[in-house]
Amino acid sequence: MNISTAEFLCSNTKMEKLPEGPFPEFAFIGRSNVGKSSLINMLTRRKGLAKISNTPGKTQTINHFIINNSWYMVDLPGYGFAKVAQTTRANWEQMISQYLQQRINLMCVFVLIDIRLTPQKSDIAFINRLGELAIAFSIIFTKADKLPKAKIPFQVAEYNKTLLEHWEELPKQFITSSEKSTGREDLLDYIDAISKNYS
Ligand code: GTP
Ligand code: MG
Repeated sequence: MNISTAEFLCSNTKMEKLPEGPFPEFAFIGRSNVGKSSLINMLTRRKGLAKISNTPGKTQTINHFIINNSWYMVDLPGYGFAKVAQTTRANWEQMISQYLQQRINLMCVFVLIDIRLTPQKSDIAFINRLGELAIAFSIIFTKADKLPKAKIPFQVAEYNKTLLEHWEELPKQFITSSEKSTGREDLLDYIDAISKNYS
């Protein structure tokens, strides 16, 4: 898929304010600092489109971007970040939970996982919750440039071992680096293919 236009549309905390429009939607979620906003900029090839920060907790709202005037890309706040006030975290969690359950045009949730880390409890819990809610998801491993190439299959296999403790089948997976644009074509082609199922 070529991306000819990519524009920021709106930031929201309230479900009823989310944009309407008959478009398929794809959301990016994962722990704070995993690289959600960076991935959106990499996919769209627009550097400052989603705001990036070294400080975890940068994205705090549901951010809609409209791509090619035909589909939505959504940057969500990270979960599992300890250094925010408990009430703020509870609010985010409620907001994300509502979003996932109510957004009917949501075609796939991409769960981002830092490829360098061992499976984190908050990620596995989140993935299992998606399963309980029967929400379609895929996994995107991020920051592949930070590992020696030979280590990547090993890390993925270790991760999958943990997933198979909870799941009978593995979800679709992508290996990406926003630094090197790794995985860009595969991911956009996948989005394109799924979008065709939208009615
Ligand atoms: P929150 O909005 O806080 O939840 O974080 P986020 O998941 O949106 O992460 P963000 O894209 O802001 O990136 C966090 C940090 O990781 C930044 O310093 C990025 O430059 C860095 N980063 C993200 N992706 C990559 C990558 O593929 N490779 C490398 N080397 N660094 C990355
Ligand atoms: Mg972000």
